[in-house]
Formats: sequence, structure tokens, C-alpha cells
Amino acid sequence: MPLRIDVVTIFPGMLEGFFGQSILRRAAAMGAAELRAIDLRDFAHDARGTLDDKPYGGGAGMLMKPEPIFEAVESLRRPGTRVIAMSPQGRPFRQETARRLAKESHLVFLCGHYEGIDERVLEILADEQLSIGDYVLTNGALPAAVVTDAVVRLLPGVLGGGEEATEHESFEEDGLLEQAQYTRPPVWRGQAVPPALLRGDHAQAARWRKNQMLDRTARHRPDLKQR
Ligand SMILES: C[S@@+](CC[C@H](N)C(=O)[O-])C[C@H]1O[C@@H](n2cnc3c(N)ncnc32)[C@H](O)[C@@H]1O
Repeated sequence: MPLRIDVVTIFPGMLEGFFGQSILRRAAAMGAAELRAIDLRDFAHDARGTLDDKPYGGGAGMLMKPEPIFEAVESLRRPGTRVIAMSPQGRPFRQETARRLAKESHLVFLCGHYEGIDERVLEILADEQLSIGDYVLTNGALPAAVVTDAVVRLLPGVLGGGEEATEHESFEEDGLLEQAQYTRPPVWRGQAVPPALLRGDHAQAARWRKNQMLDRTARHRPDLKQR
């Protein structure tokens, strides 16, 4: 069964192009994933397609109304559906989250716009809220695209090269960053490939790789905790 992902958004066009490119396109073509952008305007209650309203208690900007979002999700829900709201206030999205979501059968991503979404959507409808980082974007389509990409590339067979293709990447092995990587030529602009990689000694290359991972993580991301 393919993993189905429905992204509920006011801007389906932001996702349609994205879903039709590269690895996501291949995942859909090989039957590993079924990706759809759902136009929230189809669930508006008036001919003008109104999806927002003024927030109670005042304050700047508009808020997304709950009714169209509830009805969109109700039309999509099936046994096993997991509903995820994109929000800068959600739990940080990480590689381990992507691994967990890749085991689901149906994900529905809810994308906010304007000042955000009526809290009842987040409280009642969403199984969880995810943030892609500590900054505020104008709407949830890009966050949903980021999460979709990270999840779909983990589905079996999508990248080619078997499990190998993803299991040695950053954030996977003990939570460390991946080592530096090189291809030919052995010397370029005065910079040589580390000798440990050129000798054909696999044990030595593995030791070099582990040291690199520890060193790069300490230098680039000292905040990452080694697992
Ligand atoms: C302008 S933001 C709303 C921000 C909200 N007023 C706040 O301060 O928390 C509009 C929508 O973009 C999406 N969004 C913006 N930044 C995001 C982030 N870092 N991670 C996930 N979703 C985000 C969410 O769907 C959000 O409802």
C-alpha cells in the first residue's frame, strides 16, 4: 500500500509543482507514495470562498475559520489517518520524526495562513503539531512540503541503493552529522582527498569516518546530543 499524503492548503499550486519533480515524482510513479494537494477553498461555505475571520479579543490580522478545515479532514479521513498541523509552535520536526511518519499509511497535513488557525482545529482535529524551525513563514505549504520530502525519501525503494542510502546520513548514526565526502579527482585546487580514504583499507576508512562524524558534530552542531 502506498503512503498517502494529503496536504490541505489555500495554495495547492505551491505543492503541485513540487510533487511533480525529482524523488517525489519517482515515489508516486513507482507506487510508493500518493501525494495530493487539497484546495481548502473547495470547503468554503460561501461563493467568495471565505476561509478567514477576525480573531476574538482583537489583535492584528485574520485567523483561519474551523469549519472548512474540519469538513476537509472529515472528507479525507479513513482508518489509520494521522492529522498533523503545521505550526511554528509545534514540536520540532527531526529525522526521527520523519522515520516515525514513514511508517504511517495516511498523513493529512493542515497548513495555516494569515495569523494562524482557530485553536479548536489544533485541539480537536490535529493528532500532533509540527514545526520545521524557530522562524515564522507566511503559510504552511512549505513546511508541509519539507516534511513530505523528508518522509517520502525514507520509503522502501524510493532512493534506490537499499536501506544503505539513508541509514548512514546525518542524524541517523548515534544522532551525529555525516562525515566529509569526496569523489574524483584525488587532488583539486591543491586540496587532497584524505589518505585514509585512498588506501583501500576499509577498517582505517571506517575509523576515519567515525572520527570525522564526532569532530564535525562537535564543531558544527555542538547542541546535538550523541545518542
Ligand atoms: C504566519 S504563520 C502564523 C504564526 C502564528 N501567528 C504564531 O505566531 O505562532 C501562518 C501559518 O504558517 C505555518 N508556519 C509558519 N511558520 C512555520 C514553521 N516554522 N513551522 C511549521 N509551520 C509554520 C503554520 O501553518 C501557520 O499557521
